[in-house]
Amino acid sequence: MKSHYMITTPIYYVNGAPHVGHAYTSIAADVMARFNRLDGKKVFFLTGTDEHGQKVEQAAQNQGSSPQDFVDEVSAKFRGMADRLNISYDRFIRTTEQRHKESCQALWKKIADAGHIYLGAYEGWYSLRDECYFGEDELITKPDGTKVAPSGAEVKWLKEPSYFFKLSEWQDRLLEFYELHPNFIGPESRKNEIMNFVKSGLRDLSISRTSFKWGIPVPGDSDHVMYVWFDALVNYISALGYPDTTNELWNFWPVDLHLVGKEIARFHALYWPAFLMAAGIEVPKRIYSHGWWTVEGEKMSKSVGNVIEPLKLVDEFGLDPVRFFLLREVPFGGDGDFSRQALINRMNNELANDLGNLAQRTLTQVYRNCDGKLPQQGTVTSEDTELLAKAKLLPILLREQLERQALHEALEEVWKIIRAGNAYIDYQAPWKLRKTDPERMAVVLRVLTDILRIVATVLQPFMPDSMDKLLTQLGVEVSERQLVDLEKDLPGGRSLPEPKGIFPRFTETEA
Ligand code: MSP
Repeated sequence: MKSHYMITTPIYYVNGAPHVGHAYTSIAADVMARFNRLDGKKVFFLTGTDEHGQKVEQAAQNQGSSPQDFVDEVSAKFRGMADRLNISYDRFIRTTEQRHKESCQALWKKIADAGHIYLGAYEGWYSLRDECYFGEDELITKPDGTKVAPSGAEVKWLKEPSYFFKLSEWQDRLLEFYELHPNFIGPESRKNEIMNFVKSGLRDLSISRTSFKWGIPVPGDSDHVMYVWFDALVNYISALGYPDTTNELWNFWPVDLHLVGKEIARFHALYWPAFLMAAGIEVPKRIYSHGWWTVEGEKMSKSVGNVIEPLKLVDEFGLDPVRFFLLREVPFGGDGDFSRQALINRMNNELANDLGNLAQRTLTQVYRNCDGKLPQQGTVTSEDTELLAKAKLLPILLREQLERQALHEALEEVWKIIRAGNAYIDYQAPWKLRKTDPERMAVVLRVLTDILRIVATVLQPFMPDSMDKLLTQLGVEVSERQLVDLEKDLPGGRSLPEPKGIFPRFTETEA
């Protein structure tokens, strides 16, 4: 088994405040990072902010700030959000860091020296909002006849001198690469879309700008700053110390997973591998793109005023319910709709009722009827073994599901066991056995604590704080919470603390 695992989020644009879409990518990546740590791997989890470009320059101007002051302020908000969401990043990179700039220039030089960059002039339809040029055939004509970018953003005809990356020469190599590495792009639908785009023919890519200054100077020609996507993508290797590939961190390359939103899959699955191949650097192992959230059926937008602020959600509902809801509600990879009622339902039905009650019922009976001590394992029935055997499969199932980013399937698998645990406790009725067969009662409660230990261990990546509490209540030491620890049974007789409910029910307060 490979011992290193590197995962990244996109670096977030600092031209607006963080919203639930950003939180979503970060939480999903966090689950993957935490799961791999739990599985004994050395993890490098990278996130950060993307701070150059014309949009940022303009946003700073509108606010009457210098670009640097402006990005310092907004980047701190993103970092604050990550900390509050319990995102376990190992490095928060900012593209305005000096070492990142040097890294970008080094990569540029490497690609240029290998003959893949030339100076030309660019004209075309440019969308400021997408920071991207579009071909005539990609534009959409609105009912009033105006042409806009596929995202709906306004486009302008621009002409400027520009350095180009010879992307057109990479078409065949890219297609061959996709064929040879069928897991490189996920989900499948996105892969087909990108392959079709490449097959339709690639144009050389404009990778510098002269129309504004807020960017990284092109080595040897300071009239030009680098195209913000060139600068941004390089963060993934500058964080590892590129061009110094002899340092420890470089062992994490190639990255195992770039997790991105669907709208930026193309930059990661096409431009990025082409840049890397041109520089003779290994290509990432996988790019997975998730879908988009709408809010109560509508697109999230500042003008509609329906932007969901993640920290407000956390204040109201608590962090772990929010993390759980975002990953449970929608099949990962597809689009989803955020609704307050759906969140409350998940919280009350699946956290408070299913998991919360199972834990609370089991642990109160252990506390009251087993002297507050973890029961010894005893003689088990076929029903006991069946349930235990299913629960013991969870680590293996989850490992396989998370390898293909099926986060929702992983949660469903855990909930199957929780539901089976509830059916088991109802049927076995240990509270009745207390008088009639105390020995059997102890066995039943021990089976239940074993099930809960497995469930809580594998759920740690999803809900770290709550599962920490639950594992403590189950008498599991902090040093016994890795997947591998599940291979050993806990010795009976440990004193357990008085149980406390972990997932309160949510009730709407009257307005
Ligand atoms: N700066 C670039 C990425 C450069 S990576 C080398 C960028 N930044 S971003 O701030 O616009 O957004 C990044 C992430 O937020 C994407 O993964 C995107 O999908 C996610 N989301 C933004 N709005 C979203 C929703 N409404 N729903 C789900 N995620 C969305 O792109």
